[in-house]
Amino acid sequence: MLQNIEKIRLDVSQFSADTKEEVEQFRIKYLGKKGILNELFRQFKAVPAGQKRETGQQINQLKLLINEKIESLLSTIGDEATDDASLDLSLPGPPLEPGARHPISIVRNEIIEIFGRLGYTISEGPEIEDDWHVFSSLNFPPEHPARDMQDTFFIEKDPDILLRTHTSSVQVRVMEKEQPPIRTISPGRVFRNEAISARAHCIFHQVEGLYIDENVSFADLKQTLLFFAHEMFGNGVEIRLRPSYFPFTEPSAEMDISCQICGGKGCNVCKYTGWLEILGCGMVDPNVLEFNHIDSTRYTGFAFGMGIERVAMLKYQVRDLRLYFENDIRFLEQFRSAY
Ligand code: PHE
Repeated sequence: MLQNIEKIRLDVSQFSADTKEEVEQFRIKYLGKKGILNELFRQFKAVPAGQKRETGQQINQLKLLINEKIESLLSTIGDEATDDASLDLSLPGPPLEPGARHPISIVRNEIIEIFGRLGYTISEGPEIEDDWHVFSSLNFPPEHPARDMQDTFFIEKDPDILLRTHTSSVQVRVMEKEQPPIRTISPGRVFRNEAISARAHCIFHQVEGLYIDENVSFADLKQTLLFFAHEMFGNGVEIRLRPSYFPFTEPSAEMDISCQICGGKGCNVCKYTGWLEILGCGMVDPNVLEFNHIDSTRYTGFAFGMGIERVAMLKYQVRDLRLYFENDIRFLEQFRSAY
């Protein structure tokens, strides 16, 4: 029987056809009710138990081969059938949709580019950090709530190892290695233990900036941020600084920009205030300089930090933070022309 199957396999491989009718006859001959394959299955019943396994496999393979043969014959004949005047080979193909950068990348690159023009370098650091770089060296008192389990993701129950909650930790690493003048920004991912909603996410992106030199003043900070706001949102934008508190800056402020949607008149985006908060900033606390072996009697500096998602939300009027992480193509493709 195996020999017989081998012979049939040869016949099948060598078969060729020019028309669909020939293929149909071929199909009936092998796969039809009274066809060769059914005959083989009938004979199979009489095969001794010891050979059933191999013979069965051979028959099944043969069946596959026949089906493939029919498909390939039909596809070549099909091609010829359509190869007539109705086929316009000069028709352009379907358009290839270009990809788009993610809005967070677009905005991050833009922020980097704006500060690059002011001479800021880029620094990067680890996402898994220790308490010293994220909190202690930044003047967080030991009982500060930001160290609390509710805000910080700790790793392996060790309170000294954690996911950074801001990229200020990178600036500490720069201060450790370099003496002023320091002028750097640190873009990167940060992590906070928050419930995910339209306005909060447990992973987001920041760009923080640090400038330390002799005679750096609050006026320099304000002018730098005004320049940034104009470059980012347009020359018509106004800024306002509100007093605030951060452990690592003194004095500290939060910066608002005038609402671009209502032009300051008040709308639901700015909650009828005419202003939108975009970043935190301040003069580096002398304690932080001293912790990092920078002479605070000689040097002063400013720092600022902003959420990239927040800037992108304002720039593109995105109402729900979760859209940045879902990778829904209908959202992403809207940024095709952005850069
Ligand atoms: N590190 C602060 C935060 O994550 C932002 C900030 C940076 C504030 C620098 C002031 C100065 O919220």
